[in-house]
Amino acid sequence: MNSEPLDAVPLVARLRLLRTRLGLSQEQLARRLGVSFATVNRWESGRSRPSARARLAIAELEAAGTRGEAPADRETGRSREPAPTEDRPGRLPIAQSSFVGRERELAALSELLTRSRLINLTGPGGVGKTRLAIEAARRWAAGSGPGGDVVFVPLEAIQPPRPVASVLASRLGLRERLGVSWREAALAALRERCGLLLLDGAEHYREEVAGLAGEFLAAAPDLCIMVTSRVVLGVPGEVCSAVPPLDCPSVAAGAREIAASDAVRLFIVRASDRLPGFSAADVPPHAAGELCRRLGGLPLAIELIAGWVGTLSVREILQQRVALLEYDPPGAPGSRKLADVLRASYDLLRPAQQRTLRLLSVFTTPFSLADAQAVAGVSEQEVAGVVRGLVDASWLVVTRGLEQNQFSMVETIREFATARLREAGEAAAARRRHAMHFADLAIQSSSSLAGTDVRWWATRLASAVDDLRAMMQWADENGEVNLGLEVSAALWRWWLTSGRLSSGRAWLDKFLTAAGEHPVRTSEESQRIGRAVCAAAVLAVENGDYAEAVRLATRAMHILEPLDRGEDLALAATVLGSAQRYLGDRADARRSFQTALDLRAAIGDRAKLAMAANNLAVLEIDDGNLGRARELLEQNLIIKRRLGEPRSIAIGLVNLADVLIKDGRWQAARTSLAEAAELAVGLPQIMGLVLSSQGQLEARQRNWKQAAELFTDAVAAYGIGGHTHDVIEAMIGLGSACRELGQPDEAARHLRTAEAMAHEIANPQLLAQVTAALAETAADAAQPLPGNLTPRQAEVLRLLADGLTNKQIAARLYLSPGTVERHLATTYRKLGLGGRVDAARYAVEHGLTQHPSRPML
Ligand SMILES: Nc1ncnc2c1ncn2[C@@H]1O[C@H](COP(=O)(O)OP(=O)(O)OP(=O)(O)O)[C@@H](O)[C@H]1O
Ligand SMILES: [Mg+2]
Repeated sequence: MNSEPLDAVPLVARLRLLRTRLGLSQEQLARRLGVSFATVNRWESGRSRPSARARLAIAELEAAGTRGEAPADRETGRSREPAPTEDRPGRLPIAQSSFVGRERELAALSELLTRSRLINLTGPGGVGKTRLAIEAARRWAAGSGPGGDVVFVPLEAIQPPRPVASVLASRLGLRERLGVSWREAALAALRERCGLLLLDGAEHYREEVAGLAGEFLAAAPDLCIMVTSRVVLGVPGEVCSAVPPLDCPSVAAGAREIAASDAVRLFIVRASDRLPGFSAADVPPHAAGELCRRLGGLPLAIELIAGWVGTLSVREILQQRVALLEYDPPGAPGSRKLADVLRASYDLLRPAQQRTLRLLSVFTTPFSLADAQAVAGVSEQEVAGVVRGLVDASWLVVTRGLEQNQFSMVETIREFATARLREAGEAAAARRRHAMHFADLAIQSSSSLAGTDVRWWATRLASAVDDLRAMMQWADENGEVNLGLEVSAALWRWWLTSGRLSSGRAWLDKFLTAAGEHPVRTSEESQRIGRAVCAAAVLAVENGDYAEAVRLATRAMHILEPLDRGEDLALAATVLGSAQRYLGDRADARRSFQTALDLRAAIGDRAKLAMAANNLAVLEIDDGNLGRARELLEQNLIIKRRLGEPRSIAIGLVNLADVLIKDGRWQAARTSLAEAAELAVGLPQIMGLVLSSQGQLEARQRNWKQAAELFTDAVAAYGIGGHTHDVIEAMIGLGSACRELGQPDEAARHLRTAEAMAHEIANPQLLAQVTAALAETAADAAQPLPGNLTPRQAEVLRLLADGLTNKQIAARLYLSPGTVERHLATTYRKLGLGGRVDAARYAVEHGLTQHPSRPML
């Protein structure tokens, strides 16, 4: 090893030189010196200087490296792996740049090397197969003692038609001998050296390598072969290990997690190689994370892009990354252009594989074989064969699933394939096929989401969410208003169950506005618009936009009534009833629900009929007719259970539990909710309802801690999707539980948020509830109420003075009539009152009716 006067070189360069000589990464050097990775990184970027002790250790290491010794690892005390000697033929190459991460893959390979004799590291060009294989071989050699010799054969450099065996022989330092073939000579030498043969870049010599590997393994029992290749060899005994891209941080990752991810670390290290002094502090972490994600974690792409930090900001690089990757990398001989690497692999594919690959680039998220078939427009059998070929050639990544596997492309590779798709003039047709396929899925999901397979459909749609968006975008951009109306009307149940109310409302609004610009001619067009208006009404009501829901539902009924008195009209009547109920117009709500019930009875759809009856039962709960409500709900559940629709059964069980809680039948309510919880798995909206009811159940039993936890979970289950009404209810419950737990500030915070939301959606019931809860919180801190009344007793008295009956008070305060009666009996006794007239007079005389923080509605 040739030595340089290290002391004469500046420290930054000196450390790099030392690492290059010893073939160490920053982490490995840090370990040797007994300091952290961050410290070495700071030294190398010039942000700090080593202490006197560290300088001594560096000098020791330099001296040992110059003498060709193996210096001890400060952390483990073990001698580090031998530095490859120049004179040994076939030695592993010395790394020119630091090695980053890959600990998981290295551990897996080290284990694999103990039990497999032919390992093929597969993966697309630039994913890091060669670097990983060399690092794994280096560690293998270090751990294998004297017999652990590695022969490295770079096949990339072969000039055809030179046979692989002759290259191997020359890497082994063999000379040509008369009567002995290169194969025989190489085999004899390998048997003697009995180590690990590393054949790097076998994709262009697949058959030759496959033949050699088979022969060598049979004849040299102690030999292991590791191959790197963009394609599978297809030899018996071959163990394929797909090299994944470097780990990228998730979208939700925090700054620390971003900085720790392998992809971002490689970017920072290479950027600091390019621009000394550059460090993680020079990049907004989220921009670095996003950049690496957009590059698909492909090391080659990351390295090439990092070369631009001297010229452009990271945000500029992010925006222009596709064009930047097309440039010839400046400087560095031997460096590669990503497009060329990919082009070379692409040229190896058969025309049918190339065509399918191009078409599959329209998928932005993982897709199934059936999706691929729809977009490729070929038979099931044909697509399976082509997809297998693309997987074997590392173009597609497989994610294994229980029911079906999913396929995807690394982002930079997808961009390459998209460019080929455009070049071939196939982009418009591919997007159309993609849109039609997902439009079909959306339309099919409409009824299926109300059926027995709801969970399967919810998962299916969740995995296709980006494709569904792309499909609607396509419809919008291409003026396909009818398709847009049809799919957005079909997707309301999905938007509802998955909590995507706002986005659903926006799509419906977009297509309805577009449709408004054209005159409606046929009844089919009217029906399509009527359905979409009805879907918009459903989402509006669940979103808490009641006035808009009434307007839309009335409009939908107006459009649909003359066309067909079927389920569409019944749904519109149901939505109208819900909005009216939330607005406090119970009589109107009852009429609308009855209309829906009559329509459904005429159609004879038992499932829908059960839903209509359920809604009437809810009105009975509101009116305090708990016995009647329970009877209706129980009858309904029998029908729902027979039909076996999980979503509908769960809603029925939650409603029944509501009645049972109000009636004080805790155990029965608990059983109902436990069953509902099982049915709600995978359905966030329903899970929110169940958790909220479980919270109510605990609250009624004064188990405030459990109640607070359940309400918190309920709010989380609803997410930010827009189930405003339900979120407010859960937040009121949470606020009240916090108050009881002696956390008045927390309570006030939740209740104020709930109050603001209730005001926004102008819901009188919720406003009444939240005002009462706030009053109780305020009363805790305020003067005691007259006659030592509790806030609840004062509340009941106020409503009594307003002329409400016990049943009406119960409904207003969401109590059972029995509870109201008990409150009144205690109040009369406490205050020595003779009856209702006395009580009303007392309330007026003591200012209870004017209390500003008491409910006014
Ligand atoms: N773990 C890593 N740490 C640091 N650099 C890496 C790492 N993995 C890959 N690289 C760098 O990324 C580039 C591409 O890696 P490599 O050459 O190993 O890819 P490959 O999969 O072998 O590509 P090809 O199929 O073209 O041979 C190289 O410059 C390499 O140094
Ligand atoms: Mg390689």
